[in-house]
Amino acid sequence: MNSCDLKGRSLLSWLDYTPQEIRFLLDLSKQVKEEAKAGGDPKRRFTGKTLALLFEKRSTRTRCAFETAFGEEGGHPVFLSMDDIQLGAKESLEDTARVLGRMFTAIQFRGFKQSTVETLAAYSGVPVYNGLTDSFHPTQVLADIMTLEEYFGPSAGKKLCFVGDGRNNVVRSLMVICSKLGVHFTIVTPAELKPEWDVVEKCAPLSAESGAALRVTEDTAEVEWANAVYTDVWTSMGEEDKKAERAALLRPYQVNPALMAKTRRGDTIFLHCLPAVKGEEVSADVIDGPSSRAWDQAENRKHTIKAIMLATLGCI
Ligand code: CP
Ligand code: NVA
Repeated sequence: MNSCDLKGRSLLSWLDYTPQEIRFLLDLSKQVKEEAKAGGDPKRRFTGKTLALLFEKRSTRTRCAFETAFGEEGGHPVFLSMDDIQLGAKESLEDTARVLGRMFTAIQFRGFKQSTVETLAAYSGVPVYNGLTDSFHPTQVLADIMTLEEYFGPSAGKKLCFVGDGRNNVVRSLMVICSKLGVHFTIVTPAELKPEWDVVEKCAPLSAESGAALRVTEDTAEVEWANAVYTDVWTSMGEEDKKAERAALLRPYQVNPALMAKTRRGDTIFLHCLPAVKGEEVSADVIDGPSSRAWDQAENRKHTIKAIMLATLGCI
């Protein structure tokens, strides 16, 4: 395993990380998973450390992964929903960040604006982890690449296809991490939902450097030869008013056995960040069927999040 010093770093999006640093975190995640599978007494690498978990939006996997990964190694996670804390309500965001930085070793934020997680990082003075914003979901996609590599080996040169809403936080983060790691990434989405220019513009030079082919297409036939087909909900958290409009646009893009057959290979895996709406973006027979690796992906959230915290808190 290569070695990188990530102590003190935040994770706001993968744009700030080099391919070597991402590779290091993937290798560390694998090691963390092997340790967990071997059993034995848990190590106590987070003893004496505290983690603030700030949530503006709901979460099952991200909250549970951070809380269990940190707590089982002796750390003290504190869950703070918007009903508990003065985040931008009676106190400015900058002041809240300064105070949390005096009390916590690190902060996780899930919510709406990317600028909120950036401000927390700028003013707290401690590592801040983006647990999902409208713009990015970086901890998710590390687990996604780990899952892809568990089945196909090194991800560089493999083909990942995302089918569905091409503008959401998961797709944007996949674009960045695939561009950095040399994973060929095809987004299959209607014209109305093509990724925004800001992220395309940032990823183009990254993919040119790594050799990743980055494609955006409306044609589902372009899933041909994909190692993995990935989808996510048609309406992300905060977009509930767009439900009918999205359903009309995305119904032809449902991942079902007919779409999976278009890959023309028998070993394509199915990925989903979860939570899933079965019968909308994916049929039940695909997500609950033999090609689905969605449950490994969910488990890998914990191993990857533990690896990110170990490295950035200087606990390795
Ligand atoms: N995939 C994911 O982030 O799940 P949660 O919304 O349950 O955290
Ligand atoms: N795009 C989804 C991801 C959930 C993990 C959302 O933002 O709701």
